[in-house]
Amino acid sequence: MPRFPAFRARRLRRSEPMRALVRETEVRPQDLILPLFVVEGEGVRRPVASMAGVEQTSADELVRDAEEALRLGIPAVLLFGIPDHKDEAGTQGYAEEGVVQRAVRRLKAELPELLVMTDVCLCEYTSHGHCGLIRAGDVDNDSTVELLARMAVTHAAAGADVVAPSDMMDGRVGAIRGALDGAGFPQTAILSYAVKYASAFYGPFRDAAGSTPEFGDRRTAQMDPANVREALREARQDVEEGADIVMVKPALAYLDVIHRVKEATGYPVCAYHVSGEYAMIQAAAERGWIDGPRAHREALTSIRRAGADMIISYWARQFAREQDG
Ligand code: PBG
Repeated sequence: MPRFPAFRARRLRRSEPMRALVRETEVRPQDLILPLFVVEGEGVRRPVASMAGVEQTSADELVRDAEEALRLGIPAVLLFGIPDHKDEAGTQGYAEEGVVQRAVRRLKAELPELLVMTDVCLCEYTSHGHCGLIRAGDVDNDSTVELLARMAVTHAAAGADVVAPSDMMDGRVGAIRGALDGAGFPQTAILSYAVKYASAFYGPFRDAAGSTPEFGDRRTAQMDPANVREALREARQDVEEGADIVMVKPALAYLDVIHRVKEATGYPVCAYHVSGEYAMIQAAAERGWIDGPRAHREALTSIRRAGADMIISYWARQFAREQDG
């Protein structure tokens, strides 16, 4: 190894063209997935207080947001539904005329080339805010899995390209794959939230989706932040059950997990850069404490550097607009 003064690392940092030549990691709009929250009605745009720049929108407005994303080179959106009526069993989650099912049909009709992904989980649809059916004070695994499989089939029937189960019930990927195949949707892909930690960083999302649990928390289903070997077991299990893409969530506090899941599975890895991670940057930027766009870019770059093939990001459009010049 040549030593200083023969070796000067700063030679390659002197100008942007030089830095660009030796840059190892890139974030492109085509690597990003935009999460969107859909509500009932027409012409509705409701800002989410805890997530500056994020709104709940009705399907007509959602189509406009998705259209802009597509124009900016973002290939995919991930839909979350917020129904008007919630009940114990989350029935609107698997209703053919549910808020997400209708939004998917509209998106696919108006923007056929857009990839439409849907979150498959009951927490936005249950009155108690838990991810499934409650029995004896906890989410009942096997009966919930049946409903999730039904939900996934209604999304596929509406035209979803990818279904993304985020509930963390055991065996749901296999059940969803079986149900999709049985219903004639063998080409609908599964992006499984394979490694989802019980995280404080979901706080703002639960505001946005109105899905804060009425009692207890999600620690009987979501993973302990301390565990990485368990993450590898979860990811392998989901791949064996038929997941096409595996997700790690959140992203920034789990960059090591992203890296290891990528190596262990060899499957495409998606990272969810979650609401709290986004909101922290936005909140500090609002106060003038950090440069928001730079901090967002740095965060996205680190997630790609860790090995994520694709990133779900609330900043996707703003990022792509910057690239657009
Ligand atoms: C569950 C779901 C959650 C998120 C995505 N899907 C919330 C939870 O598990 O409590 C969080 C996403 C984010 O924080 O941005 N349907």
